[in-house]
Amino acid sequence: MKKITIAIDGFSSTGKSTLAKQLAKHLGYVYVDTGAMYRAVTFFAMKNGYITADFFDKQTLINSLPSIKLHFEFNPELGFAEMYLNDVNIETEIRTLEVSNFVSLVAEVSEVRAKLVEQQQEMGKGKGIVMDGRDIGTVVFPKAELKVFMTASSETRAQRRFEELQQKGQTVSFDEVLKNVEQRDYIDTHRDDSPLRKADDAIEIDNSYLTREEQFNAVLEMVEDVTKSL
Ligand code: DC
Repeated sequence: MKKITIAIDGFSSTGKSTLAKQLAKHLGYVYVDTGAMYRAVTFFAMKNGYITADFFDKQTLINSLPSIKLHFEFNPELGFAEMYLNDVNIETEIRTLEVSNFVSLVAEVSEVRAKLVEQQQEMGKGKGIVMDGRDIGTVVFPKAELKVFMTASSETRAQRRFEELQQKGQTVSFDEVLKNVEQRDYIDTHRDDSPLRKADDAIEIDNSYLTREEQFNAVLEMVEDVTKSL
């Protein structure tokens, strides 16, 4: 069967990565979590003191971009690829609420986006890829054969994220998580460069009331239809 490019975009905590991982595993495709790349640059900025609660030295981050090397490495035990920053595994470090609180600010910087988009396009050259993010169907792969745009209510998404963080042993309140989800939605949809929006030819899925299985089966059917029509 011919391999295609699958772009999955949508709001934060809509289960994009769960769906993308399931699809990649089933289809034997490569999965790329582009949010992890923005998180990795954010972690780099935090570690070097370029971003704090009341300060963001954007220019120094821009100047340091050439010294940031990102790559993914497949972990067979976990069944997905983990994020490396300058050859150090930072998969755990990039999933904290602190990184989530700063990442939208870093993702607004055009120079950061240009660097990451270029790397993403390079990774997707061979087809057989599932990439999730905010601008995959609009900017990274505007010609992707299948584009999915995922939504769910902010409360549903905050609840999922809250449970995820609790399972990881992080002490956060539901209100804090909801606030973060709403703030990120606002910044992601209002930034000047590549704001989050549904591509005209994307298929929208509101998964507030869909099980993972129902969602997976629906998208798998779309993949089969698209692949057959090629
Ligand atoms: O998918 P995520 O929640 O891990 O993404 C983290 C942040 O990165 C999100 O708030 C917006 C930004 N992002 C982006 O601007 N473009 C992408 N392609 C992926 C993520």
